[in-house]
Amino acid sequence: MRRPYNADEAIRRWDMHARVLLADFDVEEGDPHRIVLLNPALLALLPPVEGKRVLDAGCGEGYLCRKLARLGARVTGVDYSREMLSAARERTDPALLIRYVHGNCERMDFLEAGSYDVVVSNMALMDMPDHHAALASMYRALVEGGILVFSISHPCFTAPECGWVRDGEGNKLHWKVDHYFEEGAYEQPAVLDATEGTLLYHRTLSTYLRTLLRMGFELLDAVEPKPAEEMLDRYPRFRDDYRMSHFIVFKARKRALAATGE
Ligand SMILES: C[S@@+](CC[C@H](N)C(=O)[O-])C[C@H]1O[C@@H](n2cnc3c(N)ncnc32)[C@H](O)[C@@H]1O
Repeated sequence: MRRPYNADEAIRRWDMHARVLLADFDVEEGDPHRIVLLNPALLALLPPVEGKRVLDAGCGEGYLCRKLARLGARVTGVDYSREMLSAARERTDPALLIRYVHGNCERMDFLEAGSYDVVVSNMALMDMPDHHAALASMYRALVEGGILVFSISHPCFTAPECGWVRDGEGNKLHWKVDHYFEEGAYEQPAVLDATEGTLLYHRTLSTYLRTLLRMGFELLDAVEPKPAEEMLDRYPRFRDDYRMSHFIVFKARKRALAATGE
């Protein structure tokens, strides 16, 4: 059986690795995976945010908060890692309408219920041990009819054992996946010479979907991002992302209470 690592243990590891992980992270656009795959998908799924109250749950160093604030949103960024939040504050022009709050996204009772038009959560839910509590907390923060857009590592491709299978010359033959149904905490490769990596909480696709739907969210859309051709000139290594999907991004709406039937 896998060890039941809790959020405090997960965050201890984010705090430990934050500065190294952020060293090459572009302040406005994030890392190449965000630039090529995630940002276009998130922006395509998000509704217009100008004048809207937006919560970024698991905001990290805050690049998406800044992007959305520049589009006219009033943004709250929540993260449980003090190191990530201190980087976010350092990187943010105080003129932008962003409030950073330290807290666990699994229990956001420090935010007023029903006070956000949009919740976005970029590559954070699979880092949280209790996805049910985190989604419930996001649900609570939204107004009725409010929109949730979240991305995660694609659970069908980032199963406990996965990766390219190569021939003797190192050419990629195919992407392998194994132990898909074994949900739980998995240690990611350690950063530099550290002995402990961050934790990824693997769950099947249906676990995410059933949690979302049973909570009273209505699923509106889903994207498995592929690179735009023009991105490949700058980032040729992303051509392999036409062969498998690293990420999946969902758009859901909080149903009006009268419509949930629960
Ligand atoms: C992969 S990073 C993504 C950060 C940011 N959304 C981005 O796209 O750059 C995951 C973030 O989730 C945060 N996180 C993990 N578990 C959390 C929790 N229970 N509550 C709040 N933040 C959490 C980590 O501290 C980290 O900043």
